[in-house]
Amino acid sequence: MARLTLANFRTPLKILDAVFRDGEDLKFLDVPGFPPILFLRDPELIREITVETSNNGDFERDTLPTQGIGRVVGSQNLLYLQGADWKEHKAAAVRPLGTRAVQTVEVFHDLEQTIYRVTDARLEQIADLVRASPTGAIERSLEPDIQELMLNLLVHVLFGADVPDDELRDRYLPAIRGVIRYILLDTLLNQFHLPVLRLPALTPGHARIQRDWATFEELVDRVIAARDDGHGFWPYLTINASPEAIRSNVRVFLAGALEATSSYLSWILVNLARNPTARQRAYEDVSQLTCLSPQSRQQATYLHQVMSESLRLNNSLYFLPRIALREATVATSRGSLTIPAGTHLVLATWHMNRCEDHWGTSATGYPASEFIPERWNPENLARHGRSSKDNLHFGFGHGPRVCIGKHFSEAEAFVCLAMFLRRFDFEATGDVAADSGISTRPADQVRLTLRLRPDPAFTPRPAT
Ligand code: HEM
Repeated sequence: MARLTLANFRTPLKILDAVFRDGEDLKFLDVPGFPPILFLRDPELIREITVETSNNGDFERDTLPTQGIGRVVGSQNLLYLQGADWKEHKAAAVRPLGTRAVQTVEVFHDLEQTIYRVTDARLEQIADLVRASPTGAIERSLEPDIQELMLNLLVHVLFGADVPDDELRDRYLPAIRGVIRYILLDTLLNQFHLPVLRLPALTPGHARIQRDWATFEELVDRVIAARDDGHGFWPYLTINASPEAIRSNVRVFLAGALEATSSYLSWILVNLARNPTARQRAYEDVSQLTCLSPQSRQQATYLHQVMSESLRLNNSLYFLPRIALREATVATSRGSLTIPAGTHLVLATWHMNRCEDHWGTSATGYPASEFIPERWNPENLARHGRSSKDNLHFGFGHGPRVCIGKHFSEAEAFVCLAMFLRRFDFEATGDVAADSGISTRPADQVRLTLRLRPDPAFTPRPAT
């Protein structure tokens, strides 16, 4: 078990490992002169607190741990706003990102077209490499491919912007990676809240950060320009927000969503690569589909269990930050807890999901630390007396501040996985450590052995 040292302040998951190392679900840290911090991994408490967040509840999202993100993306967005302003933004975002918009044949078709276009040339290159290999297999780290694809889907499908694939890959993706690296550094080191992006460049590294930022802003401009043309999901967005609020939200939707969606897909592949039975079942699930559509998505029940299990075991956002606005008492079946006003709360969902007491053999039939999609089989859950309330893994959050991009991300991941599983068999061995920054990612950069499947991949319908 990791120790709490200065070195692991750059790897927050290790700090949380140290916090929970004695097996307790609650840790209250009250150092004189500092605001109190409550670390908790009890599912009922996490559920109650997320439900009582915003909407006049006793808790609000705590912006302290993510202040570096706020300094970069601005504060006029769905992630940072509170009270009536947050409600207005949330209501506006529900139309474009809710199921009615995402669950249309057009959106699935757009996802399919974009994935096919972005990956096809690459897949052909990979296929050539595989064919040339005497073993019929090659090894490849897929993380860069996944990030490129996720950015492409956000820019083309969500925002309907016309940015060539090679510009996204060679110009904008490296700039966003630079901005995300800077956000982490700024959160850790910029305790005086200096406006680093606006100060004259003092070092070559500082100049590089400013160049990355300017390039990122250029992409934001291009994405916003698509609004006038009525492409992507823009027509659903009827709110009359200020230009700064639109910019700020687009920054969150580009950089934050890129991080989270890449993490989600990366972990699913990493987990499937190490589980031949699950991989085979997932393949059989998608090989029965004749097309990719909202209806076919409903049929792929095992793939859904794979997606839930992967997000449980390896959630992208590994804790949810909250602050108690006033003294609050939270009741659960095990008793009640009174939390002092001003307490910072770390809802440690990664650790809750891996805790044997909450997700282990006696609760779900399988060890908590293992990737077993069958855990989500409705009959298995019923056998263990679990209701939908017990099955929350908080991978997309819960309550009023639940993720607005959930439906889009699930549809996107389904189409990506179906296309990938049809084309490739893949495997990997050994444990993979989790890196943690803004989100978690497999430390091995999704290194897989790839082989081609004999049957044809989905061929998308012609563009409309
Ligand atoms: C698999 C991908 C994703 C994961 C795992 C994820 C995860 C989360 C989680 C856990 C939260 C709740 C945070 C909290 O309670 O403090 C959240 C909130 C949020 N997410 Fe996502 N997210 C994903 C994709 C996206 C996408 C694609 C978008 C935008 C298009 C997005 C935009 C947001 C926004 C704006 C919020 C704040 C909502 C509010 O406060 O009302 N996310 N996300």
